Amino acid sequence: MRTTIRDIQQMRARGERIPMVTAYDYTSAQIADRAGIPMILVGDSLGMVVLGHESTVSVTLDEMIHHTRAVVRGARNALIIGDLPFLTYASPEQAVISAGRMLQEAGAQAVKLEGGVHIAPTIARLVHLGIPVMGHIGFTPQAVNQIGLRVQGRRANEARQLLEDALAVQEAGAFAIVLELVPAELAQAITERLHIPTIGIGAGAGCSGQVQVWHDLLGLYSDFVPRHARRYTDLATMIGEALTQYAQDVRTGTFPGPEHSSRMDPTELAAALGNLDES
Ligand code: KIV
Repeated sequence: MRTTIRDIQQMRARGERIPMVTAYDYTSAQIADRAGIPMILVGDSLGMVVLGHESTVSVTLDEMIHHTRAVVRGARNALIIGDLPFLTYASPEQAVISAGRMLQEAGAQAVKLEGGVHIAPTIARLVHLGIPVMGHIGFTPQAVNQIGLRVQGRRANEARQLLEDALAVQEAGAFAIVLELVPAELAQAITERLHIPTIGIGAGAGCSGQVQVWHDLLGLYSDFVPRHARRYTDLATMIGEALTQYAQDVRTGTFPGPEHSSRMDPTELAAALGNLDES
């Protein structure tokens, strides 16, 4: 049975911490699902860790839909949240079209969008139409050119604004909210004042759950390692070693072995080659 937004909210009510991870393809989604991760985010971090862009700003809705469809095919149990990319929800009307595509074409069960008080009417419109929304405040990567890559909310006025943003997003009907790069004390204070789950990334242990980017968690992305990431393994090194070994086996002729090949009846081969030689 696929996890629902109600299940996620019940986890929060029971005080269970909620793990979420990003995924961008079928195989990764299968692995995350089998590991029992209840929520998978097809994040627009795709733009950086999969497509090699400098930021998430270049990601298109078509790209997000393409990858979300693969994730949906791979994960049978997790709730799948598709990120709406930059400038695809600039008005409530545009948001309805973009989020509608994410649910209808891609098969996601929810969308995520960035912003606080100013985006609340858009969230309300989507929720009113039956589209579950996850909010995202604090450092909002789509605004990197405006706000820079830095912790948000260290000063009292900024912190107050973030609390107002969180309350507005909740009031608009979001089922959960990502807090990114927010001081731990503030993230905890916001979490205590909300009844929907907060999912932190670089926001301390006081959130209702945590989200990490697949490539950071598994040691796949070396261009930039965020301070908030814990590498649970070093797949880049492991994959590099495996590929070096494979290349060496091909060069020395030890791959493929007999067990990797199929055989044919020698008389069939002789007949085929004989025919060829006669022609
Ligand atoms: O795009 C993404 O992966 C995200 C997470 C960092 C929350 O928005």
